[in-house]
Amino acid sequence: MGTMTGDFGRAARRRVPALVLCLAAGCSGGGGNGSGGLAHGLSPAALLGEKIFSDTALSVSGRQSCASCHVAQFAFVADPTAAGPDRGAPVPLGGPGMDLPGFRNTPSLTYLSYAPDFYFDADGNPNGGFFRDGRAASLAEQAALPFVTAFEMANTDAAAVVGRLRGRPYLQDFVSLYGAAVLDDPDTALRRIGAALAAFESESAVFRPFSSKFDGWRNGQAQLSAQELRGLALFNDPAKGNCAACHPSNSADGVTPPLFTDFSYDNLGVPRNAAIPANDDARAPAYTPTDSADGVHAYYDLGICGPFRADGGLNTAGICGQFKVPSLRNVALTAPYFHNGRFATLQEAIGFYVRRDTNPEQWYPVAADGSVTKFDDLPAAYGGQFVVKAGVVGSDAGYLGNVNTGEIPYDRHIGDQPALTPAEIDDVVAFLCTLTDGYDPANPSALRLPAQCQAAGAVSGPFAN
Ligand code: HEC
Ligand code: HEC
Repeated sequence: MGTMTGDFGRAARRRVPALVLCLAAGCSGGGGNGSGGLAHGLSPAALLGEKIFSDTALSVSGRQSCASCHVAQFAFVADPTAAGPDRGAPVPLGGPGMDLPGFRNTPSLTYLSYAPDFYFDADGNPNGGFFRDGRAASLAEQAALPFVTAFEMANTDAAAVVGRLRGRPYLQDFVSLYGAAVLDDPDTALRRIGAALAAFESESAVFRPFSSKFDGWRNGQAQLSAQELRGLALFNDPAKGNCAACHPSNSADGVTPPLFTDFSYDNLGVPRNAAIPANDDARAPAYTPTDSADGVHAYYDLGICGPFRADGGLNTAGICGQFKVPSLRNVALTAPYFHNGRFATLQEAIGFYVRRDTNPEQWYPVAADGSVTKFDDLPAAYGGQFVVKAGVVGSDAGYLGNVNTGEIPYDRHIGDQPALTPAEIDDVVAFLCTLTDGYDPANPSALRLPAQCQAAGAVSGPFAN
């Protein structure tokens, strides 16, 4: 159906990006890989980035830093146990009064430094980049943006960020690295802040510990249980889960351990999440972009083609609605799932994969007459600013035809058997739980995992006291 389906597109997206090879070999110029010859393991830029990462004084509220939404103990997503109005919510709160909702679920920051900068491959498929829509080409570009995002750290502009920076104890570190003159050029200064944060995210081993039970198993230091091994086999089996087609479980370059993403983009047709304020036309915040003229909703999150990407040239019919394939490392910790946090558990997320087409009534709105509005988070008509690229012919189905319906596990129809049974889903969940970092083969029960892992029989030990 969509232009992204089929073997050719998938094969093209599984090519090893050059940057992975470069990072795995610890290439010079970017500060090394953290285990190189630097005195403290981190370059001066990375040490500065580490300080900035958790400094709430650079936000207008005085209460928010990168580390507020990206908490180290939870694979750098929000602390699910922290009290607060956004606890358990699919999107975080921020802004001057810490009451403005965002638009997307917070992603993990682990293993991001292996992602290539954003690019289109020879077949025109998007790859790499940062944010769920890849709109930041590099980690450094990404890291400058939360400071000046109205519903996050909320500075009005780069000058306001630099004004706050001038009062910080690490100002001297900044000046000795980048020079005092840069403070008079706020845009450049903010870019340097982004570079320092990117250095921290790239160099520090806390962002890529490779210390999961799965890694222990690969290194011959840990055993996977029978259930975990069944789950891995189902995950890999092209006729069953086929998960590895997009989330590869083998090393891409023979050096870097498996990353469980091929850095490609896909459209899964994830259902609309009414728990996101922007998705509820009645209570959408005033800053919600209105990108749709389909008469159903004013706003849709169309991922790679908008509304948060500025490059209108990407607005081609085929890729609208695609989101970046995330790594599944630490996925047990990153609930809720998908770009809109629609599913609370891995069980549900995988259930959606395998029963999306066999049992659409479980996931999408059902009308009184029993009809199901499948793919209800995509506009059924083109409109608003999302014009179809010249020469590309639209259809009455709007963007619905972009959903991947050609690949296992979502190549089914009503009446077919789902690709995985409930027991097999449990096995895949048990396997995914082995991707959680912090596993000590000598003391396996010391790793605290969320309840969903215990339910799958994957581990013992309480997640929260
Ligand atoms: C209010 C919560 C919040 C704050 C504060 C915040 N982030 Fe994020 N972060 C998010 C959300 C939500 C996304 C996903 C947004 C999107 O995809 O459009 C994200 C995305 C990212 C990504 C891209 C991840 C990927 O998979 O491509 C990186 C990197 C990141 N943040 C780093 C940072 C840094 C560095 C800071 C501090 C300068 C920061 N964040 C501040 C919530 C936050
Ligand atoms: C054709 C590509 C493709 C296949 C096959 C695939 N995925 Fe995904 N996966 C994606 C994309 C794209 C996303 C992000 C979608 C979004 O954010 O809306 C994703 C997201 C996820 C997430 C959510 C992660 C998070 O942190 O939010 C989980 C869990 C997941 N996949 C597990 C699986 C499992 C298990 C399988 C096999 C049953 C599988 N995937 C098969 C492309 C794929």
